[in-house]
Amino acid sequence: MASISSAVTSGQHGRPARSEQKYSDRRLRLAGFAVGLSAVLIAGGVWLAGASTPSWPNALSTLLRERRGQQVYDANCISCHAGPAGGAIDDYPPRHNANGHTWHHPDCFITRVTRDGISQPSALAPPDAPTMPAFRDRLSPDDIDAVLAYIKTLWTPEQRIAQASFTREMCF
Ligand code: HEC
Repeated sequence: MASISSAVTSGQHGRPARSEQKYSDRRLRLAGFAVGLSAVLIAGGVWLAGASTPSWPNALSTLLRERRGQQVYDANCISCHAGPAGGAIDDYPPRHNANGHTWHHPDCFITRVTRDGISQPSALAPPDAPTMPAFRDRLSPDDIDAVLAYIKTLWTPEQRIAQASFTREMCF
């Protein structure tokens, strides 16, 4: 026995009316899928445009600065401050790597010491120790920024976070 709705929709020819109904169901489902898909694509596009795309040039320029900084460091600093591995917190000259204590200083201090040097060595300095030379005539401000970026790659993620907060508090 036909239901009321099929009696209404089928009219004289039941089959065409039913397949029309099925067809429009499929169309609805397709439309729903298309709406869902475009929502995902739009959301993805917004995410790409807003978050990911602009950070690529930044990441690349940071990487290039760090590599430049390593060249500057290897040519000018490594002879006294040593490399990425080894050392202890009370070594003199201080280690710049994660075992040393340079990461306790904010950016502006590290930059200033590199530019102007330290003419009065600390009381902890052994009598025959070298002094920290001024690099202002040998390195450009860009080189000094690059060497600082490289020194930061020697630190642990926790040290970097802590040092960034010292910089926020002390450098303005
Ligand atoms: C001839 C040896 C020598 C060279 C080369 C040298 N330094 Fe130093 N540096 C020292 C000494 C010694 C000290 C410790 C000064 C003090 O505190 O009395 C020091 C201290 C520093 C400090 C302070 C760090 C801290 O933990 O207190 C920074 C930053 C620094 N140097 C950066 C550099 C950078 C960057 C270069 C290369 C561009 C460089 N130094 C090259 C000898 C040197």
